[in-house]
Amino acid sequence: MTASPDELLLKVMMDPAAIADPHSIYKELRETAPIFKTAMGDTWVISGFENSRALLRDPRCGSPMDDEASMSRVAVDGSERRSRTGDARPMLFMNPPDHTRVRGLVSRAFTPRRVEQLRGEVVAMTDGLLDQLDGEGDFVEAVAFPLPANVISALVGVPEEDRDWLRPLIADLVPTLEPTATAEVMEKADAAGEQSGEYLQKLIATRRADPKDDMLSALIQASDGEDRLSEAEVQANIFLIYAAGFETTTHLLANMVRQFVAHPDQLQKVRDDRSLIPNAVEEILRFDPPVQLDGRFVFEDIEIDGVTIEKGSSIITLLAGANRDPAICDNPESFDVTRDDVQLMSFGSGIHYCLGAALARLEAQVVLERLLDRYEHWEITAEPVWQARITIRGVEGLDVKFR
Ligand code: HEM
Repeated sequence: MTASPDELLLKVMMDPAAIADPHSIYKELRETAPIFKTAMGDTWVISGFENSRALLRDPRCGSPMDDEASMSRVAVDGSERRSRTGDARPMLFMNPPDHTRVRGLVSRAFTPRRVEQLRGEVVAMTDGLLDQLDGEGDFVEAVAFPLPANVISALVGVPEEDRDWLRPLIADLVPTLEPTATAEVMEKADAAGEQSGEYLQKLIATRRADPKDDMLSALIQASDGEDRLSEAEVQANIFLIYAAGFETTTHLLANMVRQFVAHPDQLQKVRDDRSLIPNAVEEILRFDPPVQLDGRFVFEDIEIDGVTIEKGSSIITLLAGANRDPAICDNPESFDVTRDDVQLMSFGSGIHYCLGAALARLEAQVVLERLLDRYEHWEITAEPVWQARITIRGVEGLDVKFR
């Protein structure tokens, strides 16, 4: 008996085997139920590229309009919990015109120039971490986690002595983005939100009194005429940037090693022609994206492909499914670092398009380059264990041997 779209969706969210390899499910959904309404309430699931892009860009979709500042939604058991991270929403959960104003101001502090200036520092940090790994051990613990965490800390301006304390608190907030988040996850996030919120408030006050050359100081100062970010907006968005900046990139780096070990012929191609590095990173992002789901709330009825998505519904777009839509690329199931038709949904689309995309790409390119410089043979020595998560999907650890 074939599974219903609802069963497939549940599987991809809950079943460890499906989380480890969700692509056949995305494919089946794309082919048999590209837009479907779930039995779990007013939620619609979209798996093709064009429809995902259209809906993520549609001004009739956005964040639910309630006044509570929130990094979380409803727990899987139905209990309403809000993991507050301050008195403002981060931009990810804002709608225009507030989103436009806040994103504009934050973008001023997060310029391509600021990202490119970090290249030297990213190279030095990568080399330091690879030295410590010394060719063997858990790549996630040794490189893929600390690198983005240190880079984002340096960018934002979190002092070195506070980073080890702050990181696990931020890590407790991230699982609230999962559709399967439990009340326990939410409770842990509440406590983490409170503690880290107090810390950030103090740090903001310190930087206000004594600005430095970091993003926190730039955000405090960012202004457009009379317009400035409020204290609460600075706090909420620093939180977002900090949290968005490491788990996602951690998984990108681990996925990169996994895919090249699985496809040694593709690794050889990049080794033979280093100019393929940027393209190879795009292909990793397409083939194995760290963020698999994105979501929106629907403000007005929307007609799409002959279906009406009613006002008041929620939408889940399957980003990883969209990336492998045969309508936008040839042989989507094959991993090919030379393909010239990469179109990505991995960073979302429209007004919430990932603000950190250039930084994530930079880190992956540097790590790939440094690994190529150092090691000819890449090996994974134990079957990786997947975290039980699908919105931000990745392995717990990755035991490697590089020679
Ligand atoms: C491989 C790494 C990354 C992936 C796959 C990723 C993915 C995404 C996605 C899918 C969105 C859109 C969310 C939506 O439409 O609701 C997003 C938004 C965002 N990302 Fe990333 N991200 C990554 C790295 C980063 C980094 C390194 C930063 C910061 C340094 C960052 C900061 C943000 C911010 C601030 C937003 C919200 C933008 C807005 O609401 O206007 N991301 N990201």
